[in-house]
Amino acid sequence: MLIEVLPSANLSVLPYLQNKIVIVIDVLRATSTMVTALANGCQAIIPVLTPEEAIEKRLMIPGALLGGERKAIKIEGFDLGNSPFDYVPEKVGGKRIIMTTTNGTRAIRAAAEAPHVWMASFLNLQSIILSLYRHLESNRNLEGILIICAGTEDRFDLPDTLCAGMLIDQLRLDLEVNDLAKAAMMLYSLAKDDLVNVIRSSDHARRLMELEFDRDIIYCCTQNILPIVPVLKEGEIVWLT
Ligand code: MLT
Repeated sequence: MLIEVLPSANLSVLPYLQNKIVIVIDVLRATSTMVTALANGCQAIIPVLTPEEAIEKRLMIPGALLGGERKAIKIEGFDLGNSPFDYVPEKVGGKRIIMTTTNGTRAIRAAAEAPHVWMASFLNLQSIILSLYRHLESNRNLEGILIICAGTEDRFDLPDTLCAGMLIDQLRLDLEVNDLAKAAMMLYSLAKDDLVNVIRSSDHARRLMELEFDRDIIYCCTQNILPIVPVLKEGEIVWLT
């Protein structure tokens, strides 16, 4: 079985999706925020590509909240930004959230044709690994695992790649890997003892720090605190049951 890592997502991922479990990673911050929202009682997250699409969709889902960012800042008129600290139980409990982010929701939508699309972050990595063991055991027809790093506007993103490296490292399966998977494991092994500081030095984190989102970075680097596997089901992100 093959495990591949892709550095970013657009329609070019389409040929890779068949018979794969796709794991989308956007550590800073979309998939970390989605895991947090579900842990805090949100009913479902609907990933959309643009603010306009989000506003139009809300007309059909009364009571839904709008969440997301552009250039890491909350979109004007939206209820929530893309900070995990926006998604507290008092705001998101029992709600459906229509969400658009620059890279994360775009990667999820690009992967939507795959038979299984899961969302990973450092916060829920252990649960992803345990669910992968179970899933691969009971779905023998699957050909491999495809990890899509959401990237930063089609560019390489260090936090996503380190998270992919940790996932493969801790999966401890004898899998064939592509070059970026090998590189991700090497980077993770170099960075793992000082992960927060390495991530803080990345382009994306530095931009977030300029906007005073330091605590988001620290939180998004926390490992294995949320036992949740978010999956895409009929266009909505919900818990894996
Ligand atoms: C994205 O989807 O591009 C990110 O989550 C951006 C951010 O840091 O809010």
